[in-house]
Amino acid sequence: TNSYYQERFRPHIHFTPEKMWMNDPNGLVYYKGEYHLFYQYHPDSKKWGPMHWGHAVSKDLFTWEHLPIALYPDELGMVFSGSVVVDWNDTTGFFDGKEGLVAIFTHADGDLQRQSIAYSKDQGRSWEKYAGNPVIKNPGIQDFRDPKVIWHEETAKWVMVLAAGRKVQFYTSPDLKQWTFVSEFGEGWGAREGVWECPDIFPLINEKTGEKKWVLPIGIDAGGPAGGSGTQYFIGAFDGNTFTPEQPKQEVRWLDYGKDFYASQSFSDVPGGRRVVIAWMSNWQYANEVPTDPWRSGMSLPRELKLTTVDCEECVIQKPVHELGSLRNSRPASETFSVNNTDKVTKRQPVVPFVIEMKVEAGSSQRFEGRVFVTGDDPGFLFGIDFSKDVLYVRRGYTEEGFSKHYKGTFEAPLRKGRSDYQLTVICDHSSVEIFTDDGKVALTNLHLPSEAISYEIVMEAIGGTADVSDYRVSELSPRWQ
Ligand code: FRU
Repeated sequence: TNSYYQERFRPHIHFTPEKMWMNDPNGLVYYKGEYHLFYQYHPDSKKWGPMHWGHAVSKDLFTWEHLPIALYPDELGMVFSGSVVVDWNDTTGFFDGKEGLVAIFTHADGDLQRQSIAYSKDQGRSWEKYAGNPVIKNPGIQDFRDPKVIWHEETAKWVMVLAAGRKVQFYTSPDLKQWTFVSEFGEGWGAREGVWECPDIFPLINEKTGEKKWVLPIGIDAGGPAGGSGTQYFIGAFDGNTFTPEQPKQEVRWLDYGKDFYASQSFSDVPGGRRVVIAWMSNWQYANEVPTDPWRSGMSLPRELKLTTVDCEECVIQKPVHELGSLRNSRPASETFSVNNTDKVTKRQPVVPFVIEMKVEAGSSQRFEGRVFVTGDDPGFLFGIDFSKDVLYVRRGYTEEGFSKHYKGTFEAPLRKGRSDYQLTVICDHSSVEIFTDDGKVALTNLHLPSEAISYEIVMEAIGGTADVSDYRVSELSPRWQ
């Protein structure tokens, strides 16, 4: 039934459409026991084109059931990115006093972008577009899109944040139909090399101070940390109308430092108040060229975000959702070893996907390096820690880089200053490597297209001295469909 998992590069624990083009995750919501994932979808081609909302549901965030297309282009245009809310109290009047799902999205007609809504009374299986669309007309701004809507408890109103050029705007509404512009944020703030897209907004309680803050992630379509698309975030206060950042104006915080983590969105209504995000695992620099077939693009692993204070600085930390744990085949015994330039450690790793967990201590070394998907002449995907520069770095694209000049490269992330030991989590699927370290402060997500092989190796070494590895463990991950 799942023969498509035999296809080359097809991820096993990351969401992909069965076939054709996908980009941003849309309408992430938990409702009646299901996580809904809608996504930007072009059903007729492996390249971006007239946008629909594809749809899938999952009970555990890893096993996805593909459902029919939810939203089609219509006379108001294509269906661009947006969000879904549960209208628990029938504020819209769409649900005869009961509850239901409402999608808020951008209608894009040529250069004209406006916001519209649609509703579903049957748990997202069928959708009706609102007859009064668009609900927000274009105010004369070219890039005016990607509405994210939340229910703001304190003011008992719906709040929308959407991208408007290199800023975001906030609107409020009692019923999701009539919207009032209340403020904008962004002029002169953060990373500004590209157009801002796909904002999100949610509260998090700082686990050290107990204070509630608001996090405002925003995609930027050029000038990301590894070049091209990237996701920055701001932390601040939000009163239901105005976002007030708490950071220096020029400072940029990245949710992920890799090349393939874009348009991230969080799920609405997750039980227990968890903040779970998924991002599109590609980059506009080459998304249309990535050599996979018959589909193109996958989503990142779902991650849980938290807010904490590290070295007097407030920051978002993340890790894969705990549900990932249930995909582990077994819990292998941990190992301890030392590596240096001449004593490399090589481990056979025939099964993909897998997760490597380990603690690395600098010892006398300057750098620690590991490589995954090593085979034959292919040195694989490299990850390293430079203890003298306090950076995590990765390198990819020794082979298979032919499809885009933007694929090959070394990408890095800053680590906490002066630290000499790190816990690393490296999650490898058939065409991606996601790395988490520095207690969740740093995530690095990248596509990697390994050489075809019967078996791969993991190779570790150190430069300039000896590094010590402890609690080293590789767990194979089996998706539930197996
Ligand atoms: C981001 C984006 C959004 C837009 C969508 C169109 O990747 O450009 O701004 O709504 O993709 O598919």
